[in-house]
Amino acid sequence: MTTASAPGKIILFGEHAVVYARPALAAPVFQAQAKVEVRDSSRLGVWIDAPNISLRAEYSALAPTHALRAAIDGVFHALSLPAAPCLNIHIQSQIPVASGLGSGAAVSVALIRALSAHLGQPLSDEQVNALAYQTETIYHGTPSGIDNTVITYARPVYYRRGEPIQTLRVGAPLHLLIADSGIPAPTRESVAAVRQLWQADSARWEAVFDKVGQLAQAARAALQAGLPQELGHLMNENHALLQEMTVSCSRVDALVETARNSGAWGAKVSGGGRGGNLIALVAPGSAESVSAALLAAGAVRVLQTEVA
Ligand code: PMV
Repeated sequence: MTTASAPGKIILFGEHAVVYARPALAAPVFQAQAKVEVRDSSRLGVWIDAPNISLRAEYSALAPTHALRAAIDGVFHALSLPAAPCLNIHIQSQIPVASGLGSGAAVSVALIRALSAHLGQPLSDEQVNALAYQTETIYHGTPSGIDNTVITYARPVYYRRGEPIQTLRVGAPLHLLIADSGIPAPTRESVAAVRQLWQADSARWEAVFDKVGQLAQAARAALQAGLPQELGHLMNENHALLQEMTVSCSRVDALVETARNSGAWGAKVSGGGRGGNLIALVAPGSAESVSAALLAAGAVRVLQTEVA
């Protein structure tokens, strides 16, 4: 049996603008992981068992555009296998779907790694990242590539489409709360909504994306210098621009306000938005009280994570 795991992720700065080639910052979240086990089987075919999504099927019965099938086909193609092997693949994920934590990319990365290793040809990080990106196009339509990159490398990254990946040195650990608004929000839809805005008035939205990119640059400097209060301030500014892009919603806005009013240094939507998760940057001593305030205000789950 061969196993591989991959973490979830959060986008710290720059979601949506990153699709338009502005820089963004993201970090892995090891508190929520996807795990894939691959075993040889006596049954013909490649059988997938994914209890989280109630899926049990032979992979070729899935549509070619199904993300799991696409990831498996991608590995078989990359390895130039002479014949399809007989395998059982078990997929387990603790990462909530459609909440901005990168569940799809984490499953793809773990699956690509476990499968290629089981078949005796483990793919390099670069190959895993490229195949996971192809699979992301199924979830997202026009992904920037940030999710698969931060999850493949499992390090905080400064990411700009088309540029070499830069991992980030963090000056002082960041304590973050990840609060789930309870509203499932497919990223594909919010990305499409922003694209419609941009198509209708590209000059206006290019200027907004530029501002987001400048915030991401400033945040990189503050992160490296270990200035969490400054980062909190930058998060609040980024949230305002995400509101302008229509990717927040009243429930997320209310939770962002709750986090700030209960002592967080800053808070913002994280990921696709219109629901999903928000992140709040806190002093270690106030993590519990801000978390309790978020739960009391209706967050369905609050994870605590450290970016170090
Ligand atoms: O997967 P999510 O919901 O965290 O969204 C990814 C971030 C976006 O910028 C909204 C999309 C992308 O492809 O970068």
